[in-house]
Amino acid sequence: MSLSEALDTVREKTTVVGPRKVPVKVLINGKAYTANLEPCITLLDAMRDFWELTGAKRVCDRGTCGACTVLVNGKREYACSLLAIDVQEESITTVESLDENGVPDPVQQAFVDNDALQCGFCTAGFVMSCKGFLSEVPSPTPEEILKGMSGNLCRCGTYAGIQQAVAQAAVAIGKSPKRVRNKAHPHRSKS
Ligand code: FES
Ligand code: FES
Repeated sequence: MSLSEALDTVREKTTVVGPRKVPVKVLINGKAYTANLEPCITLLDAMRDFWELTGAKRVCDRGTCGACTVLVNGKREYACSLLAIDVQEESITTVESLDENGVPDPVQQAFVDNDALQCGFCTAGFVMSCKGFLSEVPSPTPEEILKGMSGNLCRCGTYAGIQQAVAQAAVAIGKSPKRVRNKAHPHRSKS
């Protein structure tokens, strides 16, 4: 096959969208959010600027600091590094979903109990990263916590409190009835 024939084949099989706005629908915290967006809009910008979900923070905006961490199908991702148009088939979980009728999630409570924040700008990202981490490593050692949470940065330097919070959250989640239910359904998200 010649190069031009190969390119024609690729064009036939590829759906090209944009640069104008296109309808985008993303499932976040169990609810469908829609907007007409340019294909270059990130999930983070869509959430913050169009859908009033401002828990995930924009700091570095280049996949370095973790302030924008969300769960995609239960796995940690930087929302600044995903295009909204590319996650239309996925299930997104943000920090806004964690409390139940005003009662904090065990991870949120652990961050409060351990004074694991100062300015708080990184905190939502750390909390979501902790949720994802503990679903991967339910009973981590201190070394595993250090390594597992290394994708998030805190400019205020509250790392000691954060490490204690993650350890406390692991114990709290381990004792919760929700965790027992999740064990019975291994394919269900633990978040
Ligand atoms: S804002 Fe996304 S990693 Fe820093
Ligand atoms: S608490 Fe200020 S950046 Fe982490």
